[in-house]
Amino acid sequence: MKTHTTSGAGLVPVPTAAELSLPYLPESVGAARRFVCGKLREWRLDELVDDASLIVGELVTNSVKTGCQTRLVVAARRPSDRVVRILVGDGSRVMPVMIRAGTAATSGRGLAMVHRLTHGRWGVTLLPFGKVVHADLPAPTTTRR
Ligand SMILES: Nc1ncnc2c1ncn2[C@@H]1O[C@H](COP(=O)(O)OP(=O)(O)OP(=O)(O)O)[C@@H](O)[C@H]1O
Ligand SMILES: [Mg+2]
Repeated sequence: MKTHTTSGAGLVPVPTAAELSLPYLPESVGAARRFVCGKLREWRLDELVDDASLIVGELVTNSVKTGCQTRLVVAARRPSDRVVRILVGDGSRVMPVMIRAGTAATSGRGLAMVHRLTHGRWGVTLLPFGKVVHADLPAPTTTRR
């Protein structure tokens, strides 16, 4: 837990960051989805659950596919009242590249979907020990906590 925002009354601190380390296993995709979607419900952001579930699924699947064993982390943050940031970190320093998959391609659509769902608000930070992919979703402004 790194940051806080306040409730509608401005009095009650609400935790706004959550992080989970996972093993490099296909089962981690579901675990990451449950974790992030649970946080969003806790934050009363149920409207974001469907899109977040797709994004987390794509990003964690990509990380698992790297075959890297050192570090797989999923996190959800509220950098501001208006944004939910989903982060997936892995131990590979190979950068993700969005592909223009042709109609016949059977893969290469995951990041394009993340791009579409976030309206281009995603990116990658290269780190000495790997990288973190982030994807931002707009939080509904009328949310009451
Ligand atoms: N976490 C990652 N680490 C290293 N390379 C990645 C990562 N995520 C994506 N990539 C690279 O970017 C490419 C595009 O990723 P994308 O998710 O769009 O397609 P895909 O995983 O190949 O297929 P699909 O998601 O449709 O099953 C991947 O083929 C891979 O080369
Ligand atoms: Mg993919």
